[in-house]
This record gives sequence, C-alpha cells and structure tokens, in this order.
Amino acid sequence: MSILSGKNVLLGVTAGIAAYKAAFLVRLFVKKGAQVKVVMTPSAKEFVTPLTLSTLSKNEVFSSFTNEEDDNAQWNNHVELGLWADLFVIAPATANTLSKMAHGTSDNLLLATYLSAKCPVYYAPAMDLDMYKHPSTTATFEKLDSFRNIQIPAEEGELASGLSGKGRMAEPEHIISFIENHLLQQMPLQGKKMLVTAGPTYEAIDPVRFIGNHSSGKMGYAVAEAAAKLGSEVFLVSGPVNISLENSRVKIIPVTSAKDMYEAAHTYFPTCDIAVLSAAVADYRPKQVASEKIKKNDSSLTLELEKTQDILKSLGEIKKHQFLVGFALETQNELENAKSKLKKKNLDLIVLNSLKDKGAGFKADTNKVTLINKDNKVQRFAVKPKTEVANDILQYIIENIDA
Ligand code: CTP
Repeated sequence: MSILSGKNVLLGVTAGIAAYKAAFLVRLFVKKGAQVKVVMTPSAKEFVTPLTLSTLSKNEVFSSFTNEEDDNAQWNNHVELGLWADLFVIAPATANTLSKMAHGTSDNLLLATYLSAKCPVYYAPAMDLDMYKHPSTTATFEKLDSFRNIQIPAEEGELASGLSGKGRMAEPEHIISFIENHLLQQMPLQGKKMLVTAGPTYEAIDPVRFIGNHSSGKMGYAVAEAAAKLGSEVFLVSGPVNISLENSRVKIIPVTSAKDMYEAAHTYFPTCDIAVLSAAVADYRPKQVASEKIKKNDSSLTLELEKTQDILKSLGEIKKHQFLVGFALETQNELENAKSKLKKKNLDLIVLNSLKDKGAGFKADTNKVTLINKDNKVQRFAVKPKTEVANDILQYIIENIDA
C-alpha cells in the first residue's frame, strides 16, 4: 500500500505546456488510493480542460473564486480547500506562479489557496532552460525553500521551445515517487522495527475449554496501526481477538496460548528496535491439559495451575538496544506497583492503567493512562480514544528512543 493511500491531495495546475501531464498525475494519485481535488489558474485551462481533470479525479475542478459560468455561482473557499489538503502539489509550476508564491501575491484561487494551506507544499517547476537558470528564478527557489516548500527538481531534456536542457517538469511517475520517498523520510519511525503483543491468551483445559480473559486487543492494535503510520515495520503477535487490521507494514502473527506468544515474541524481538507488550497474558495455565473433553462426573472439579512465563520480563533480561515498553493494569497502589514492575522487568517505560478509572480498561474504546519512565518521571493523560493513547505512547518513544 502506498503512503499516499487515503491522503487528500490538492493538485495545483498552472499554465505551462506540461499541464497536459496533470491528467496523468491525477490518475497516478488516484491509483495510489489518494483523494484528489484540482485547482487551476485560469490560463491553465488553455492547456488542459477542467472536464478531463474532473473526470479523472471524480471531483469538481476549481479555477476561480466564483463559478462564473454557473447561474447559481458559489464562492469557492480557498481556506477550506487549503485545510482539506494533506498535501498541496503544484505541477506544473510556472516561473510566474512560483514568483507570485514567493512574494505572497494572491490574484487567483490557486495562489490564495497556497497562502491558506497549512499542509506540506510540493512544486514541480516547468519552464524553458534560460528561465530556469535566471537569477530571479534561483532567488524564487531560495525564498520558497525558506518557506519549507519542497521542490521536485525539474528534469533535463527536450523543451517545448525546441531547445534542450534543464527545465522540463519531472515526469508524473517521478513526481509520485519523489513525494512517496519524501513522505517516508519524514516519518519518525521510518526504518524501525517494532514488536507489539496484543489481546488475551487462551490456556487450554481440555479440547473445548480454556482459561482466558476479557482483553479485546484494541490497545495493542491501535499501537501497531499508529506505529505503522509513523513508518515502522510492525510484528503484531496477537492473541485471539475480533479485530481486523490491514496495513502492509503490519505483519500479524496469530497465537493462542502464553507459550505460543512467548515463542513468537522471542522470534521477532532480537531484530526489533522497539517492543510494546500490551497483551493480557494469562499468568497461570492448567498443569495438565485433558486430551478428551472433561465429563461432569463430580460435584466439584479442581484444576491445578502452573505459572506461565513472563514474556515481558524475559525480554527485559535479554534486551540490548531495544526500547522496551510494558503495561501495568492495577487496582490498588497503582503508581508504586507500576514503578516496581518497571524495575523488576528492566523496562524503559511502563504504561499504567487503573481499573478504577472511568473510561479505562479492557473492552472500552477509550483508555486513561499514566506513563512512567526509568527515572520515575510520571506523565498523566486524560481519558482518550485508544487510537490517541497509542499516539501519546509512540510520541514518548520517538522522543526518547535514541536518547
Ligand atoms: N506480561 C507478559 N507475560 C506474562 C504476564 C504479563 O508479557 N506472562 C506483560 C503484559 O503484557 C504487560 C505487563 O507484563 O505488559 C504487566 O502485566 P500485568 O498483568 O499488569 O502484571 P503482571 O506482571 O502479570 O503482575 P500481576 O498480575 O501480579 O500484577
């Protein structure tokens, strides 16, 4: 899956001959799973028709502040367009538009949108070679650089003038891969590998019964998905849960028992940089697993239980460079218990949730956590959706992983 999937891409088209390639660009963005809206300068319509771009993008194309040909003319809100966009890609970007961008001129909808947009702005210059080399253009690029706009370098080749040199707009495929690579590099967990454990474990009593718990796995899955979105490759060792997660960066390793989870966690941990163990692992399992279904012959039944291995503790014992995060679910003396677990299991961070807190716990979509680090620094958070809690945890990891 492309990093562009699900992103709102606003494509700005200006009046250069390369505008005809905007049609290919729209198609490629759509193929990558992005939503595309197009804003054009009025003169760009001479090079490529709005109908072509609206058909390919499946969205209305904007080119003026009002739809002047329409009797029920509507105000096209540049602020809304700018805020809608996750990325603003101006391609082709003519010398004229680039210079106006550098100077804050906003005499058309595209430029007003540029001034309103808060998202990253990419631009693909397209001009003749002498225009490209002109000191004024160099000054424009420097100015746009200082605005943190990102240039997609022009390419060398034959130009519309018949001359040959640098100034051609980058080919649509190159624009797409440039943006994909750039976005990936911006991701704080790019290049990292993370192990996440999630969900309950089931400890067999006989072929049809087990000892389990109410863990839904939502917290661990939220951490896995958020980490993948931040660029990490994730190994999600999951007990039996009812959640589906499709992300090409998340490899799900389904397990059932604490023993399976222990083995899978130890398989992936050595190559990982980060491990977040959120699973509610059974602490005990039946010592004997009956090979046949146990009949109800007696008035009572006693099961002898034995301890399972503490996965988190075992990883704390072998960890080298890894940043190790555990959870603590407590009902009393929360802080003290969490701090002692952090020490005992050699963790870098422990995420405490108290069953006493409203909105925290196993099945809810929300959680209320307190983060405690190795130096006993305590950071309390409000009740939030688990997806946001996941981001709070990851933010802490990102800020501290290489420290
Ligand atoms: N954990 C684990 N393996 C186990 C038990 C727990 O990896 N066999 C991990 C959990 O995933 C969690 C952390 O240890 O990250 C703490 O789990 P918790 O149940 O709060 O604590 P325990 O260590 O089991 O201690 P106790 O039940 O006595 O509070």
